[in-house]
Amino acid sequence: MQNAWISTSVPAFLIHLYCVFSDQISIQILESLSEDRQHVVRCSAIVLRLANDLATSQDELARGDVLKSVHCYMHETGASEKEARAHVQQMISDTWNEMNYETKIALVPRGFVEAAMNLTRMSQCIYQHGDGHGRSVIAKTVERVMSLLVSPVPLD
Ligand SMILES: *[C@@H]1O[C@H](CO)[C@@H](O)[C@H](O)[C@H]1NC(C)=O
Repeated sequence: MQNAWISTSVPAFLIHLYCVFSDQISIQILESLSEDRQHVVRCSAIVLRLANDLATSQDELARGDVLKSVHCYMHETGASEKEARAHVQQMISDTWNEMNYETKIALVPRGFVEAAMNLTRMSQCIYQHGDGHGRSVIAKTVERVMSLLVSPVPLD
C-alpha cells in the first residue's frame, strides 16, 4: 500500500489542482502533496488504486502484470477471491471515512479539498464496470462517455 498510492496519477493531478485553487502557493504544501503528509491526497489515491484493482486485476494478471491488492491479500491470508474482494471493498469504505475526517481538518484550500473528493468519487464511477479499455466489457463505460460528451440533453 505504501507504494500503491503514490503510483497512481492522483498525486500528480492534485498537485496541479492545488496550484489552481490557491491564492498563495506554499512550497511546503506543494512538497507535502507528493509525500505521506497530505492525507487527503493519500486517501484519494488509495481509493482510486483499490477501485482500479477491483475492476481490472483479473485481466491484468492474465496479461502477466504484477499482483494487485486482491491477490496480495489472498496470498498473505489464504482468503478466497470473494473474501479478498470484500476486504478490499471494506478498505475503500474505511479510506472514505478517513478522507471525510481529513477534509475537515486539512490546511489546504476548500476548492482543492472539493476537487480531491470529486476525483475520488469519479474514480469509483470510472472503475465501476471495468475501466473501459483494459477490460473487454466496455459497453457501460462507452455508454457513460457518450451520455456525458456526445448525446444531447433533452430540453423538455
Ligand atoms: C465537485 O462536484 C460537485 C458536484 O458535481 C460540483 O458542483 C463542484 O463544482 C465540484 N467541485 C470541484 C472543485 O470540482
